[in-house]
Amino acid sequence: MVPRGGAARQLCSAAGDLLGAMEQPSAWDRFYAQREHAGAVGHFEWFFGYEAVAGLLLPLLQGPGAARVLDVGCGTSALGLGLYRDCPHPVHVCCLDAAPAALAALQRLLCMAPPPRHPRSHVRLCLGDATDLARGGFAPASLRLILDKGTCDALLRCPAGPGRAGRLVAECLRALQPGGRLLQFSDEDPDARVPFLERVGMAGVSVQELGVPGGVPYYVYTVEKPVGG
Ligand SMILES: C[S@@+](CC[C@H](N)C(=O)[O-])C[C@H]1O[C@@H](n2cnc3c(N)ncnc32)[C@H](O)[C@@H]1O
Repeated sequence: MVPRGGAARQLCSAAGDLLGAMEQPSAWDRFYAQREHAGAVGHFEWFFGYEAVAGLLLPLLQGPGAARVLDVGCGTSALGLGLYRDCPHPVHVCCLDAAPAALAALQRLLCMAPPPRHPRSHVRLCLGDATDLARGGFAPASLRLILDKGTCDALLRCPAGPGRAGRLVAECLRALQPGGRLLQFSDEDPDARVPFLERVGMAGVSVQELGVPGGVPYYVYTVEKPVGG
């Protein structure tokens, strides 16, 4: 449904507020709540949707055992729900966000989703701070794959950007199993993102261009946690 009239104006105003406060979960919470209030249905996607990267992600979830996956700052993206639905192997997906309104909307979408392809797959939605995963109960070396679509970018845009974004990356690396991967989807240029990730992650970083939709190049940055690291 397309928002109209007053609802559309409120949504535009929430989106406008967001531009100056992208690191603040409260600003995102207002944005998702206004979206819901305006009658918007379906997933809101930063940059691009699940279908654009499903072919890249699904092969990373092959055995042994159930892959544990975390989407940090999931918003209402279809990324986590899509992997849960389509993965032919068992997968345990956690979609984490600090904005309660995003998780409420995602829960409604989950209720309408078809069952997962593998009967032992499951998904949970978690309210929490991606820069403090330990507090959220994520044990060290417990996850095979962490996805970040636009969350590090949002943190980097605040005055305390590199510090908060650095904590996000450090927390992700702590929670990854040796050999596990953090994938960041971003429009930031490799000249800026690669040195940042190498500094914080102290690990090898690879970059792949995903495409140039609408003239903007998008990248996936992969940080692999060293085995024995
Ligand atoms: C640019 S949006 C990306 C949303 C989603 N990943 C997507 O692709 O559409 C950034 C998301 O990060 C969330 N966020 C911001 N700071 C956070 C934090 N410290 N912990 C968890 N989530 C956070 C926001 O609520 C928002 O949903």
